[in-house]
Amino acid sequence: MVDFAFLDSGTGGIPYLQRLLEKKPDASCIYAGDTANFPYGEKTHEQIVKCVFEIAKKIIEKFNPKVFIVACNTMSVNALDVLREVFPATQFVGTVPAIKLASSVSKKRKIGLLATQSTVDNPYNVDLKNHFASDCELVLRADPDLISFIEHESFTATKEESIKAVMPAINFFYENGCDTIILGCTHFLNLAELFQEAADNVSGGTLKIVDSREGVTNRALSIFDSLNQNAADSKSEHEQKKSRLYVTGLSKAKDQNEYDVICNRYHLEWGGII
Ligand code: DGL
Repeated sequence: MVDFAFLDSGTGGIPYLQRLLEKKPDASCIYAGDTANFPYGEKTHEQIVKCVFEIAKKIIEKFNPKVFIVACNTMSVNALDVLREVFPATQFVGTVPAIKLASSVSKKRKIGLLATQSTVDNPYNVDLKNHFASDCELVLRADPDLISFIEHESFTATKEESIKAVMPAINFFYENGCDTIILGCTHFLNLAELFQEAADNVSGGTLKIVDSREGVTNRALSIFDSLNQNAADSKSEHEQKKSRLYVTGLSKAKDQNEYDVICNRYHLEWGGII
């Protein structure tokens, strides 16, 4: 049993794992990227539900996590309800676009949502907007090229190459009058600081970048604490020194090199193929 499992289609959820470990350094964690099925953002709802179910089942059978973080907006908006129904004994935490946070930041009441095509098209955003940002205008942009760049290239790319990759999105929202951009695909979190730097350069500091790292990790930790286990079973069976990164396959030959760099950067052990 591990304390926390994180799931995404690739590298997107790793910054959530990193944030959680900053708050709880002794947590035992595994991270799984369903890389064989990457990208999720271009799949149909039915395909997403099927893929998420299969990888979640493997993770639960192999690691039995106390808290299971679906660190992917596309998986969460499409399949979280199904996961909760099919695996009622597992505590799931989903990741959805930080519309509430963006609403608290935006002065112009014009918010950009950068996400996958599937997330952008999902009616869940309309519910979130109506609930938390009803007086705001939401400007949507799907960016599969940027997501692919982050998954396959960004860890070994130069800073100039990464800036070049994020600029079309920054320019799009700035030209559309937004003063806040939600990183609504977890992949973007790998470049969160660079997004803010690029936005500052374009806007002179008026364009803010927000994400759901704080909300998701706090929710996961509060569920973990509320499980209120006795001392005997609060210790995980595997006393892992480092969190481990697993993938379901390599979608491009050079991805192995990307994953080696990621393991070094985030202090993860390479777990191999799950
Ligand atoms: N990282 C994912 C998200 O948060 C999806 C990326 C993809 O597989 O297209 O939506």
